[in-house]
Amino acid sequence: MSVTKGLEGVVATTSSISSIIDDTLTYVGYNIDDLAENSSFEEVVYLLWNRRLPNTLELEDLKIQLAANASVPEEVLNHFKTFPIDKVHPMAALRTAVSYLGLFDEEADNATDEANLRKAIRLQAKMPTLVAAFARIRKGLEPVAPRKDLGVAANFLYMLTGEEPDSIAEEAFNKALVLHADHELNASTFTARVCVATLSDIYSGITSAIGALKGPLHGGANEQVMKMLTEIGSVENVEDYINQKLANKEKIMGFGHRVYRKGDPRAKHLKAMSEKLTKLTGEPKWYEMSVKIEDLVTNQKNIPPNVDFYSASVYHSLGIEHDLFTPIFAVSRVSGWLAHILEQYANNRLIRPRAEYNGPGMQSYVRLEDR
Ligand code: SDX
Repeated sequence: MSVTKGLEGVVATTSSISSIIDDTLTYVGYNIDDLAENSSFEEVVYLLWNRRLPNTLELEDLKIQLAANASVPEEVLNHFKTFPIDKVHPMAALRTAVSYLGLFDEEADNATDEANLRKAIRLQAKMPTLVAAFARIRKGLEPVAPRKDLGVAANFLYMLTGEEPDSIAEEAFNKALVLHADHELNASTFTARVCVATLSDIYSGITSAIGALKGPLHGGANEQVMKMLTEIGSVENVEDYINQKLANKEKIMGFGHRVYRKGDPRAKHLKAMSEKLTKLTGEPKWYEMSVKIEDLVTNQKNIPPNVDFYSASVYHSLGIEHDLFTPIFAVSRVSGWLAHILEQYANNRLIRPRAEYNGPGMQSYVRLEDR
């Protein structure tokens, strides 16, 4: 047996959902660059679940189904009110809420393909509502009900603020959702697949995935990037701050990737959005600081930024609270998790690797009273 720490380079499954080949990311063979420029998030959801782009009617139908399923049970909203709200991270709230939501789905343990697809639509539809509702309830505000006439991106921003977003915000948020939707066998997707490969239910799979995404080495990095930018405060402070971190061998959040070497193809889109939005909000310093950090880290360590780096200043510019950045990642990535869960069910085998034992050899048991 040989051990591959972190399973680096290990190919654990086949998948027809997304691919990373030579630092190019595709969803079902479509380059992410084309999708980011042209498609709605709903189109991408359809693509990931059906492995083809929808026609107009199919897209309209998916939008109608998502809108029809976006409300969450009153019990789940009331549950939020019982949380120790000032201490709870929104990712922990989301993880708990998705698990709780499963209790209200009468089909939760119905494992037919049709029921699984219905649950996928329900979960995809309700995730934005859960995140927006928690964000308001913790501030003592009433949740804003989803609207049937808005797409996923606009609806989320509307539920968060109670105001319909302008077209620039909607477009930017839609693009961010498209860019985060799927990413091959990343840690949270693998977690989801491991969970449902035991033939556990979809709610368990998504709950597990949210737990994995929460960590700062994965989706949690976007919030940490904003924390870093806030700590640095101004462009003049960047150099000292980053040099100090690198000298201390600390990780710079939003940099590095297990798979990409030349760079994460999603980052350039987020970088362009960051430049545009920070100018529009009159706070170009977030972009300027980010660019300076990128220059320093790439020059000194040759480690490029990943998807989480520029998404931080994008979400900040959209007026989103920093601890909601990772839940927003989940709002998008749930589409990929669901695609992978359905793919796992369709060709399932229990996922159960081995561990190389490195503890003590055989020992003689000593009874408690003799120790
Ligand atoms: C996401 O997998 C996916 O697809 C994930 C994702 C998705 O869409 O699902 O793309 C989303 O999770 C992006 C990553 C978000 N995380 C961060 O930004 C946290 C900071 N980055 C890292 O800690 C790190 O780069 C990881 C966790 C992303 C990758 O870890 P690896 O592959 O285990 O790499 P490593 O930690 O072993 O690093 C290899 C070398 C080390 O140097 P040496 O010891 O060999 O000299 O690169 C250095 C590391 O110290 N390094 C960094 C660094 N990342 C790697 N040095 C400073 N800052 C960093 N960010």
